[in-house]
Amino acid sequence: MIRINENFNKLKASYLFVDIARRVEKFKEENPSAKIIKMGIGDVTRALPEACIKAMHAAVDELASEESFKGYGPEQGYAFLREAIATNDFKSRGCNISADEIFVSDGAKCDTGNIQEIFAQDITVAVPDPVYPVYVDTNVMAGRTGLNVDGRYENLVYLEANEANGFIPEIPATTNIDLIYLCFPNNPTGATATKEQLTKWVEFAKANKALILFDAAYVAFIRDNEIPHSIYEIEGADEVAIEFRSFSKTAGFTGTRCAYTVVPKKCIAYTKSGEAQSVHPLWNRRHSTKFNGVSYPIQKAAEAVYSPEGKAQVKELIDFYLENAKIIRESMSSLGYKCTGGDNSPYIWVQTNSDSWEFFDTLLNKAAVVTTPGAGFGNCGQGYIRISAFNSRENVIEAMERIKKALNK
Ligand code: MLT
Repeated sequence: MIRINENFNKLKASYLFVDIARRVEKFKEENPSAKIIKMGIGDVTRALPEACIKAMHAAVDELASEESFKGYGPEQGYAFLREAIATNDFKSRGCNISADEIFVSDGAKCDTGNIQEIFAQDITVAVPDPVYPVYVDTNVMAGRTGLNVDGRYENLVYLEANEANGFIPEIPATTNIDLIYLCFPNNPTGATATKEQLTKWVEFAKANKALILFDAAYVAFIRDNEIPHSIYEIEGADEVAIEFRSFSKTAGFTGTRCAYTVVPKKCIAYTKSGEAQSVHPLWNRRHSTKFNGVSYPIQKAAEAVYSPEGKAQVKELIDFYLENAKIIRESMSSLGYKCTGGDNSPYIWVQTNSDSWEFFDTLLNKAAVVTTPGAGFGNCGQGYIRISAFNSRENVIEAMERIKKALNK
């Protein structure tokens, strides 16, 4: 008898963004003429930078002739891209990360979801609350949790991020934690962590032989140079942390797919008997067994992000979304809602003073604006919505006007 992985039955019915899409579809059916403005899922709206397009075209041409044709590439990514990443994203900020510690992939969602496979079944996992649902759901699927009781899975440690702690989870009292997910700039709150705050997490991981999974998918939005761009800016983090990055939000690759994960060779985990083992070969083994690499034209396009033109174009792209974020934050604040994020992040976390899903429905039904209800990211998200700055200027301005009217402000 073929049997299912019953851990899937513990999951909430569907993925948050699928739930939202369903409500939006229903609204569309009932209001076919409404012009919906989507500020829910963080999907980019502007074209790829010209430098990336040029590089992609040239790479496609290379594939058109037998002399320069390429079949399978290295599973870990082409050296040209891994070198460019190591130099520009890490060495430039004083982080000693080398090209062979970088694994190019098709998305930070996949990598943050898949990485848990290399760790033991019976470890204790800590996740922030609110949280990007992928961290939680993949551990549920893997059987590391119990049932969902009142919005929280048994056996998971929730690190609360709320107004009182400035949306930066504090170091927990329990030391019984093996794997810690952190995300800065944060999805969904938009909060950023200081060097001192990250240092405490690195020290905690070291003291407890734990490992940090650091999701930095939104790093390109950091404009304050004092804010760490990488966990490896913290001394010793290369022994206790894996970092995830993506070209999706940095350069508009949500549709073309390219990301990478950094697994330093010094980074260690332990066998049951307590023997230290480097996790680099484990991830290398997993990655090369289950993944065949990102396509050559896309890796060439990603490499172009680091060219002088690419850097200027990416900056312009991010500046544009940050200006949107500023408009959203200022508008919502002027309506009397407390906001966080939106300055070094594309997300604005808005305190609704009411139920998240109700507020979401009000904005959808009265303003035809889609946001993300904070409660969908965890119990601590109740009473908040997340607004994404990825949209055209025109739509952002119109959405803010519509919201103002819908809320009778
Ligand atoms: C989000 O809206 O949280 C992100 O777009 C989801 C993702 O990157 O997978």
